[in-house]
Amino acid sequence: MKFSFVTLFSSIIEGYFQDSILSNAIKTNKISIDFFNPRDYTEDKHNRVDSPMIGGGAGMLMTPQPLSSTIDNILDTSKKAHIIFLTPVGKKFTQNDAKRLSKKEHIVFVSGRYEGIDERVIEQYADELFSIGDYILTGGELASMVLCDAISRNIDGVLGNSSSLDEESYEESMLEAPSFTKPYEYNGKSVILDYSKGNHSKISDLKQKLSMSKTKFFRPDLYQIVKQEENR
Ligand code: ADE
Repeated sequence: MKFSFVTLFSSIIEGYFQDSILSNAIKTNKISIDFFNPRDYTEDKHNRVDSPMIGGGAGMLMTPQPLSSTIDNILDTSKKAHIIFLTPVGKKFTQNDAKRLSKKEHIVFVSGRYEGIDERVIEQYADELFSIGDYILTGGELASMVLCDAISRNIDGVLGNSSSLDEESYEESMLEAPSFTKPYEYNGKSVILDYSKGNHSKISDLKQKLSMSKTKFFRPDLYQIVKQEENR
């Protein structure tokens, strides 16, 4: 899978791929990344990529031409590119989206800065718009990294142990049951003893119950969905 980042500030993103799982995924050719800076494509004689909003409003918007030229340049060599704009008005990104998008060949993340992007560019190029939550960031870069990370770990071979994906939170809308490692006693607290007795069907039933209680307590909204599905 190839990920292209359209951003004025690639250095914000680059560091994220220098360690751990994603760095390994690049080394083993499971993913590749590249960067495109709209400032390199601007036709403005002062190299500008932003302009005040028409009709008033505080702040500047990213102008259409540099972004359009950047994206056209990417599309010239990659007809299958799937273009995602990061914006607080997009639909909220979920684990299902991460899994679905992990099957694409090439994803392009377009990050806005300033007060956002001229709407005409979004209309022309966006396959999807995503938000990572109901708050406003200073730009889309952080959101593009969140999506890229969540998508990448669903690509075959990116996680050392792919069975980590089997029992994760958000599978069937449920949160994962509590997990423990050594020591068995820590600060006067024990691990759940049934976990250590080797009876796998008992452990699996228990985890199912704990997963339900945890979802009910921490995410009553998800719990409602699970209950509705059960009653269908
Ligand atoms: N850009 C600014 N805020 C954002 C958010 N919450 N999600 C995605 N992109 C953004």
